[in-house]
Amino acid sequence: MKLVYASRTGNVEKLVNEINTSNTLKIETGKEVLNEAAVLVTYTDGAGILPETVRSFLDANKGKVRYAAVSGNHVKHPTTFTGAADILEKEYGIPVIARFDLAGSEAVVKAVKAALSEDKDDVAKLNRLLASQEVFTANLQLYHWYITGKQFFTLHPQLEDLYDAVRDDFDKTAELILTLNGAPASTLSSFTNNSVIAEANPAWISADDTLKALKDGYLSLITLVRRIKSETENELVSISLDDMLKAYEKNVWMISQAQA
Ligand SMILES: Cc1cc2nc3c(=O)[nH]c(=O)nc-3n(C[C@H](O)[C@H](O)[C@H](O)COP(=O)(O)O)c2cc1C
Repeated sequence: MKLVYASRTGNVEKLVNEINTSNTLKIETGKEVLNEAAVLVTYTDGAGILPETVRSFLDANKGKVRYAAVSGNHVKHPTTFTGAADILEKEYGIPVIARFDLAGSEAVVKAVKAALSEDKDDVAKLNRLLASQEVFTANLQLYHWYITGKQFFTLHPQLEDLYDAVRDDFDKTAELILTLNGAPASTLSSFTNNSVIAEANPAWISADDTLKALKDGYLSLITLVRRIKSETENELVSISLDDMLKAYEKNVWMISQAQA
């Protein structure tokens, strides 16, 4: 898969160099043509907007960008931090795998690399889902501990229910892999290396930012599950993922209601 990116002052470009893949395309004018599936990394412009060149690029290359990772500056732009990510999700339906400061971190490099990987068979795809569910569970637990503000009493217990549910799904995914005579990944490093959801930063987080991170995570899982379902020829695999998909879709709806 191709890595497409936009960088004005060099931060995103630095991250792209860390990712170290040859199949890249830099968005300079917005008129570039994309002829394969891609992962987008972009900076945030203006007061939390998507750069105009990126907007033109997406309008001309509809449906090809599978995931996005978005850079911002939370010290200089705390209220519009990575605002381009909200636009990518709402207007283009592109799930966001990481919102990060400046040139990002090792966790962002790993998530973008995982999103760029092409998984050949059902077991490989389910292992990608397994890793992403495990990292998302750890992130939910982190938000449960690190959430601050007036909504603490509501969201703190709610987050516990959510991570318990994703943990159950994680076990179901592993059992499905075993049913297919595959080997589920089972080490912490294999989870962080293969998850399309970036590991969260251990830092205090507001209720608003928690809701954004939850929505990002569920939308990324939905993209993975839908893709596995649409590409598999095994009915058992497809049916086994139905309940997860329904639960993730419902959670996205509830989070959107809470954000309205
Ligand atoms: C004019 C301008 C406006 C910006 N607005 C935002 C913003 O609203 N939210 C945000 O998180 N970052 C904002 N940023 C910060 C950039 O998105 C951030 O520095 C990013 O890492 C730049 O990536 P690049 O060096 O690859 O161009 C802004 C930067 C500039 C220069």
